[in-house]
Amino acid sequence: MKDGYLDFANSSVGAKLVNALGLPKPLPLERYEPGQPVLSGPVLIGYGGGQPQLLESLARFFGGIKAQTYAHEKAPNWIPVANAAGLTTGRWGGAGQAGVKVKALVFDATGLEDSTQSDALYWFFHDAARSVLPSGRVVVLGRPPEECTNPRQATIQRALEGLTRSLGKELRKGINAQLVYVSQGAEANIESTLRFLLSPRSAYVSGQVIHVGNAVGAYQVPADWNQALAGKKVLVTGASRGIGAAIAEVMVREGAQVICLDVPQAQPGLSETAARLKGKAIALDIGAEDAPQKLVEAALADGGWDVIVHNAGITRDKTVANMKEHLWQMVVNVNLSTQERINEALVNSGALKSGGRIVCVSSISGIAGNMGQTNYAVSKAGVIGLVHSTAPVLAAKGITINAVAPGFIETQMTAAVPFAIREAGRRMNSMSQGGQPVDVAEAIAWFASPASSGINGNVVRVCGQSLLGA
Ligand SMILES: NC(=O)c1ccc[n+]([C@@H]2O[C@H](COP(=O)([O-])OP(=O)(O)OC[C@H]3O[C@@H](n4cnc5c(N)ncnc54)[C@H](O)[C@@H]3O)[C@@H](O)[C@H]2O)c1
Repeated sequence: MKDGYLDFANSSVGAKLVNALGLPKPLPLERYEPGQPVLSGPVLIGYGGGQPQLLESLARFFGGIKAQTYAHEKAPNWIPVANAAGLTTGRWGGAGQAGVKVKALVFDATGLEDSTQSDALYWFFHDAARSVLPSGRVVVLGRPPEECTNPRQATIQRALEGLTRSLGKELRKGINAQLVYVSQGAEANIESTLRFLLSPRSAYVSGQVIHVGNAVGAYQVPADWNQALAGKKVLVTGASRGIGAAIAEVMVREGAQVICLDVPQAQPGLSETAARLKGKAIALDIGAEDAPQKLVEAALADGGWDVIVHNAGITRDKTVANMKEHLWQMVVNVNLSTQERINEALVNSGALKSGGRIVCVSSISGIAGNMGQTNYAVSKAGVIGLVHSTAPVLAAKGITINAVAPGFIETQMTAAVPFAIREAGRRMNSMSQGGQPVDVAEAIAWFASPASSGINGNVVRVCGQSLLGA
């Protein structure tokens, strides 16, 4: 559904009015176009504390994507490390003067060992905050607090969350900010995550905390990062329209073959999507008792599948006092129990191949709760429970499981929401606008990538840093 306010706020008359009245000013967000480089401008690097531990990994990464980098004046060691990696780099600003405008700020905080060292964060972001271009990116890298060797180190590492969440709210202009905790020994696994977070693919993701751990199964570097899913077979449920159709499109763009599934009643849209994407169509109600077995048979007949995306979902909203039992059961069954049954059937039969990926779709309702959505929130919070509880079990089989939790995304589901609630959903986030189905799809493609073997058990919100459940 078209966001008329966004167009108005960016017109010459509208912009003046919006500024005069202090109204939210959403900017059109940059979104990924096939073939585009990861970054369309330079990167400013900073670090602090004792010994930053990711500089070599970052230099290799930025060298690989041929980025132009600069060192903040308090981060001079970046220059020799970057030069050693064959990267051209230079000093940014100097003596308190700002340097050139940059597309991204990347701060290696792994060396912070004590809260007294937090002024390194202050100086870097104080100097650079006004130098980030629109739709720019902020990434702070730290160590998981639970893996730190002493309480003081764990404390300052946990404190980074307050920084990135605040920067996401403060910088505006479509700039987002994320914190990435990298486990010891997982430094080589950060590339798919940096590619996602620094590029326009993460347009509607902000204020998130992501854990990159040791590889589940083998770490694979795609031959072509723009076709990271080449040769992969991906099942997308609920693919006839909305977010599901966008997921199928992005999967195909990334080189995958798709198997599009939806209920038999959605057959026209399902056939159209599958035909357009040269994929297969399966008309099936996933809530049916025999659905897991049917999917196992279809997958084995197809030589096995590599990725399962549990996108299909329904709402049947009523306050709990007014809700009929069958509406409760229907929502929990379709949105949650089917995912448990299908995962078990596909994994136990080997129909989901080793090295496979399971990606679930939760919701910010499952994080914040929502009036009239007890059934839906139970199902979507349950999806988060499913991800956390099965991630270690599946890892032993070389399979990862993660979830996206969308906020307000412009689809038929949200077009049906009453006007006032729809407007609140669109504006109550750091981007002051709703997300697009493609924003959810891009995050799912990142989880699904063979190079994301270090990403397991994560739940990442695609919500423009919604205030709900923040
Ligand atoms: N749109 C949003 O703002 C938003 C926000 C948070 C979460 N989500 C979640 O994202 C997912 C997609 O949402 P959407 O907005 O595209 O919704 P949608 O209603 O447009 O699409 C959902 C699809 O799932 C299919 N489906 C429903 N029950 C099914 C079943 N039993 N078997 C097979 N297919 C079934 C539907 O036919 C439909 O094609 C859902 O899980 C939803 O809960 C959406």
